[in-house]
Amino acid sequence: MTIKPVFADAAPLSRLPDNQVLPDNQVLPDARAFLADLVSGFAGPQKSLPAKYFYDAAGSDLFEAITRQPEYYPTRTELGILDARGAEIAALLPRGAALVEFGSGSTVKVRRLLAHLPDLAAYVPVDVSETFLRSEAEALQADFPHLRIAPIAADFTRAFALPADLGEGAHAGFFPGSTIGNFEPPEAARLLESFGKVLSAGAMLIVGVDLVKDRGVLEAAYDDRAGVTAAFNRNLLARINRELSGTFELGAFAHRAVFNARASRIEMHLVSRADQTVTVASRAFAFAEGETIHTENSYKYTIDGFRALAARAGWTPVAVWTDPDALFSVHALRRA
Ligand code: AVJ
Repeated sequence: MTIKPVFADAAPLSRLPDNQVLPDNQVLPDARAFLADLVSGFAGPQKSLPAKYFYDAAGSDLFEAITRQPEYYPTRTELGILDARGAEIAALLPRGAALVEFGSGSTVKVRRLLAHLPDLAAYVPVDVSETFLRSEAEALQADFPHLRIAPIAADFTRAFALPADLGEGAHAGFFPGSTIGNFEPPEAARLLESFGKVLSAGAMLIVGVDLVKDRGVLEAAYDDRAGVTAAFNRNLLARINRELSGTFELGAFAHRAVFNARASRIEMHLVSRADQTVTVASRAFAFAEGETIHTENSYKYTIDGFRALAARAGWTPVAVWTDPDALFSVHALRRA
């Protein structure tokens, strides 16, 4: 059986700054956008790279490995909440609605809801990776033979339309994994607002959100003893070497994870161990010893803090569930 994802409008390529002369004929379109993001991210006093570039094939495998580390509590804690509360959560969703999962990736979490949703109009996974969408959808179909699965290959941070035959009714959204934590709070609010537009008035949204907690617990979760998160962070450099002809020496950068309490976020950095110059697509970038590349933010919220953010984005809090240690939260929100 084959499930073909529908394509939403293709994202336009990032525009390059006018002063950049690119060897257009030597780089693929995806590499071109990656290079443009790298050049702008390396231009300021604090070098940075967008976290989305972590997830090439190797990075996605490393992330899966992170979720199995003893220090990385979010995945298993959220699954525990969904296991314990799946029926209760499902009961809040509109009858006969479609369930749209934003940035679906693996179907491990949504299965906890689907098991309690026999009259769903459709399950609509939305993900940029068409191959992954297709294989996950086929595996899910085998386990839920009567479920209509309507995958959409799209970047969920941009507006996209649901299949027209799902009707105009209120739908349900699912955004697990604390992926919301990767966005700056104003961006996170804009994203929740755009989910509201995709799902229509009266919609419900189920969001997994990591909670603020002891610094030691947070920092260990992003710096596991086995070094998997460090490898995940450094894979960004390996990817630059591979896709943009970079000359990064992976051992010349240390992994650092710190909780920035003022901003309420874990920051991941790659710290240059020496003064060094690295070349990427024929451009030279100098790093001083101790200088960092800021590679990720993972915002942590209190329950009230997240509810306030959701309210600014047009969502009314309906219910929230946590684990006994209050490590992680799952919110149910209704669109006003
Ligand atoms: C997938 C964005 C939720 O922030 O915890 C895990 C990514 N980075 N370890 C997170 C991540 C380092 C993860 N999110």
